[in-house]
Amino acid sequence: MATVKIVWASMSGRNEQIANFLNEYFMQKGAIVDMSEVSQTDAEDFANYDIDVVVSYTYHQGELPDEAADFFEDLKTLDLTGKVYGLTGSSSSKHKYFGRALDYYDEVFQQIGATKGSEILKIDEDPSAEDLKKLRQFADDLLAAV
Ligand SMILES: Cc1cc2nc3c(=O)[nH]c(=O)nc-3n(C[C@H](O)[C@H](O)[C@H](O)COP(=O)(O)O)c2cc1C
Repeated sequence: MATVKIVWASMSGRNEQIANFLNEYFMQKGAIVDMSEVSQTDAEDFANYDIDVVVSYTYHQGELPDEAADFFEDLKTLDLTGKVYGLTGSSSSKHKYFGRALDYYDEVFQQIGATKGSEILKIDEDPSAEDLKKLRQFADDLLAAV
């Protein structure tokens, strides 16, 4: 049975809801899931799961949420060889650097040896029915990659 860690960052609630949606879907599929908010999470926890997921918004001018700074720095020091990762989250295409926090995470996961189990899934503001379908596919891809 696959184990999944979901770390989320959310200011106004969209990404928390997306994390909850993924949590429920992974559980339906028989995975064992743990979920936590980024500022309450040790990056090292990712080493204890088969699949590592980050659900995050983008802030400022295409930057990470402030509360993710420590987590992000610690992540860079890990070796996640053999782990599967996935990146998703709601941000807004009204901004110049749409969802760029996810691209920054992608660079780090690559550097620390993890395997991308699904393409980055950027959601524009509130998830549409189509986005929910893509989120299910995202989770299925990650489970299939383990
Ligand atoms: C001050 C501010 C700056 C933002 N900057 C960006 C940005 O650079 N790129 C982007 O894609 N979205 C940006 N956003 C949009 C948020 O990422 C988006 O509203 C997201 O859905 C918020 O998620 P949450 O409900 O989980 O907090 C910004 C929002 C605010 C309020």
